[in-house]
Amino acid sequence: MEKLVIQGGQKLQGTLPVSASKNAALPLMAAAILPHGITYLDHIPELRDITTFSHVIRITGASVERKNHRLQIDATRVGFPESPYDLVKKMRASFYMLGALIGRCGQARVSLPGGCAWGPRPVDLHIEGLKALGAEIDLDEGYVVAKVPRGGLPGGNYRFEPSSVGATVNLLLAASLGRGGSRIENAAIEPDIIVFCEMLKTMGAKLDGVGTRTIEVQGVPELHPIKFSNCPDRIELGTFMIASAIAGTPGKPIRLTHARPDHLGEQFLEAFQNTGSGCIIDDDSVIITPPETIKPVSIKTAIYPGFPTDLQAQWTVLLSCAKGVATVTDQVYGDRFNHIPELARMGLDARVSGNQVLVRGGVQLTGTRVMSTDLRASVSLVLAGMIAKGTTHVGRIYHLDRGYERLESKLNRCGIDIRREQYDEFGAPSQG
Ligand code: EPZ
Repeated sequence: MEKLVIQGGQKLQGTLPVSASKNAALPLMAAAILPHGITYLDHIPELRDITTFSHVIRITGASVERKNHRLQIDATRVGFPESPYDLVKKMRASFYMLGALIGRCGQARVSLPGGCAWGPRPVDLHIEGLKALGAEIDLDEGYVVAKVPRGGLPGGNYRFEPSSVGATVNLLLAASLGRGGSRIENAAIEPDIIVFCEMLKTMGAKLDGVGTRTIEVQGVPELHPIKFSNCPDRIELGTFMIASAIAGTPGKPIRLTHARPDHLGEQFLEAFQNTGSGCIIDDDSVIITPPETIKPVSIKTAIYPGFPTDLQAQWTVLLSCAKGVATVTDQVYGDRFNHIPELARMGLDARVSGNQVLVRGGVQLTGTRVMSTDLRASVSLVLAGMIAKGTTHVGRIYHLDRGYERLESKLNRCGIDIRREQYDEFGAPSQG
């Protein structure tokens, strides 16, 4: 098992590069099995989720090869339309194979994703949406079994309630290679979806209304393989902006590069500036000037362009540095607070009530042993360790490795004393 050991109190400084997007890369990879031929995807981050999804894709008969940040996916021989439980349970976005295999093969047998660190995270919209487009869907021993009528997916209309990123991806994957036309209403408009739709259109898909809540799809008989580049990770950018504000030297700018700040949405950018942190956008860089004191700013998460739920744990650590009381309300996932008890062990004064946590800031956190419970919880513990007094050991960082590329080497190069170590969860705690 691996952990990160962080000596608190070091100042973050210099230039921090943002990696390519995890949540945009995954739909791009799923789309790469639609055409017969080799698709090249550039700017794909080296993450556990990408490795896991590569294994899922290989099971269908496709080949997936990585050369640095480029993936080469040869879908010529896709023919086994299945995605097994032991892989899908590791990463729920594997469920995108349902739409991709319906599109490519006209049939699919994909495991239901199972549980998540917080939940429930249902897939009813995926299933009802695909049925509305004409797929025949049954549930069999924890698997979704789908097939399309002879001649291909007839198409249809479906309105999401609530809007869903994953379900929008699944319906677009299936409908792009369908026979008929489809209309998707209340579709997700996250930047990940826009980039994904750009790839589909470049492959020959007929989509109208991309970027709006209503997407019209006209199925085509085939799509062609292409070269396509992924976008930067907006959640890593937001994470680094928060890290700069809380661990930087007041008044000393930190530059975040290879970024797309417009992908963060107005609500996050506005909340961030309301903390008193300086934020200047300079082409694909964001220059953060840490403030003398951080103002407490309450936030409520919402679907894009609202405040991203994937940044609420990190925001809670920012609030611990602000003098005063503020709240974090998650309107997307009502119980995504597994990081709170771990942060409380470091001295965070916070109280969870329903889908809201009330944080009383201004308390100096202290380092100790803490444990990751999910990807964004894990990075919030790293942020806390950076500003805590003493040493913090963040365990089970396999969660972190799912979504942050070489985080400790990036932070090391910017002044933070952080190192990766092996440890035995059941052995005596190592000193230091
Ligand atoms: C995507 O998950 C992201 N994952 C999540 O990021 C992110 O938290 C989430 O969108 C919300 O922004 C990827 O892109 C791989 P949803 P997804 O379907 O697609 C409800 C991270 O940390 N819903 O948009 O699963 C659902 O319960 C991960 O990188 C249904 O009710 O999210 C939630 O309340 C964690 N039925 C809301 O919709 C369904 O069938 C939004 O979920 C599907 C979803």
